[in-house]
Amino acid sequence: MDRGTAPRSRCARIAAFISSRCDSSVTALDRTTQSERLLRAEPCRAYWGMRMLLVPRAGHVDLLDLPWHEPLEAWESVRLVEVPRGIGRHVVRFVDYSGTLFALKELSPELAAREYRLLRELGRRRVAAVDAVGIVSERAGSDSEALLDVLLTRYLDFSLPYRLALARRLEPDQLARLLDAFAQLLVRLHLSGFFWGDCSLSNALFRRDAGELAAYLVDAETGELHTRLSDGQRGYDLEIAEENVLGELLDVAAELGEPGAAAESLAAEIPARYERLWAELTAEAEFRSGEVTTLDDRLRKLAELGFDAGEVEIVESDGAYRLRLEPKVMEPGHHRRRLLRLTGLDAQENQARRLLADLDDFRQRSLEETLPPPSETAAVGRWLAEVFEPAIAAVPRELYGKRDAPQLYHELLEHRWYLSERAGHEVTLQEAVADYAESVLRRLPDERTVLTDVDPRDGESPQEGRVS
Ligand SMILES: Nc1ncnc2c1ncn2[C@@H]1O[C@H](COP(=O)(O)OP(=O)(O)OP(=O)(O)O)[C@@H](O)[C@H]1O
Ligand SMILES: [Mg+2]
Repeated sequence: MDRGTAPRSRCARIAAFISSRCDSSVTALDRTTQSERLLRAEPCRAYWGMRMLLVPRAGHVDLLDLPWHEPLEAWESVRLVEVPRGIGRHVVRFVDYSGTLFALKELSPELAAREYRLLRELGRRRVAAVDAVGIVSERAGSDSEALLDVLLTRYLDFSLPYRLALARRLEPDQLARLLDAFAQLLVRLHLSGFFWGDCSLSNALFRRDAGELAAYLVDAETGELHTRLSDGQRGYDLEIAEENVLGELLDVAAELGEPGAAAESLAAEIPARYERLWAELTAEAEFRSGEVTTLDDRLRKLAELGFDAGEVEIVESDGAYRLRLEPKVMEPGHHRRRLLRLTGLDAQENQARRLLADLDDFRQRSLEETLPPPSETAAVGRWLAEVFEPAIAAVPRELYGKRDAPQLYHELLEHRWYLSERAGHEVTLQEAVADYAESVLRRLPDERTVLTDVDPRDGESPQEGRVS
């Protein structure tokens, strides 16, 4: 049914109820009761319908103070904040509840339900995507006109739309990082059986990940979940990705007044990077009985790429064995999981690699210096208490919005290395923190939430907002 024109059942009930006030067939008793209800219900807002489905979380807000009975475009609320966003078809607005931001996207009930379901399922499969927190449906406006549904997602903290991730420059190294992150996201989506259908840089968000970038899916509306994707489905997504990315790179080049000659070969990098990673992850290995290292080697290689295999399949034929890995059981986040298990710190994959390397270094030194050598748990506890936490705590609180803690720690290590090189001797982490906070961090824009002064509806390009 087209909700844009047809009244919803609840609206129909309300209309029937109101008209019944004038209906002479209604008994006096009924009339009193009904008019009392009407009086109590002043203003008549109480009769507009709405249904809200929320994923409950500790400390969650209910968002009931928002003007749900108006089209999202027309909202006026102190909760609204302007965030630079990618190009898209729908009205998307952002609200702030004491520093926790939510993205609200208005779309048809069918699409809202579909996107909600897909995002929830991607979350369950631990694919990097924005977190769906709810859906508001059965909305009616002041004139009882049915309004579109609203999908609620948690704003992805420290995320950047691709233009800001590129810092509005077509600098080769950053472009390479961006394309790499995007290709990796596609591989991860495909491994989990997700066909995207609208792969574009605008439909992804990027977070800093040590020296790299990590991509998250933000728009799942066109997606489909399958048990396993065929080569044809994967190929089709890659074609769409290449075409969309080409258009997006040409747009950026045009905005910068650059020729954009490299855009085509850059866009072609997406399938090339994707295929390389896909082949590395899914390649079959052959070995003879007794060659015990093959499985180990294969798993170690996967871990280097940041993946764990939930299951391996070994098939014997003619005395040789074939080692197969089913894409579906491939789990990204090898280092991330190890760091979380050891320290409780949640980081991106490359940040986790960096932090684990520092932790391993610390442990190695402790083994040499302390007798008896500390257990792994004791070393981890000491690293957290004596190294990581003090370094983060030494950064002035007002600078916490610049970087998340694992990224900050990575940048502090980089800065210490740079200062030590310049000084010709080892600089301590404390010295590096003090210098980094004042000479670098303080000048950087906040990235926890990237706000813009510009109202996107005023005709300014919304994605060109200020990084506050
Ligand atoms: N949870 C979120 N966190 C941060 N930014 C978000 C979030 N949801 C949406 N955005 C921003 O809003 C933009 C638009 O969102 P989205 O792509 O879902 O809608 P759309 O583009 O209108 O849909 P379509 O691509 O179908 O036209 C995104 O590119 C992103 O910049
Ligand atoms: Mg979009």
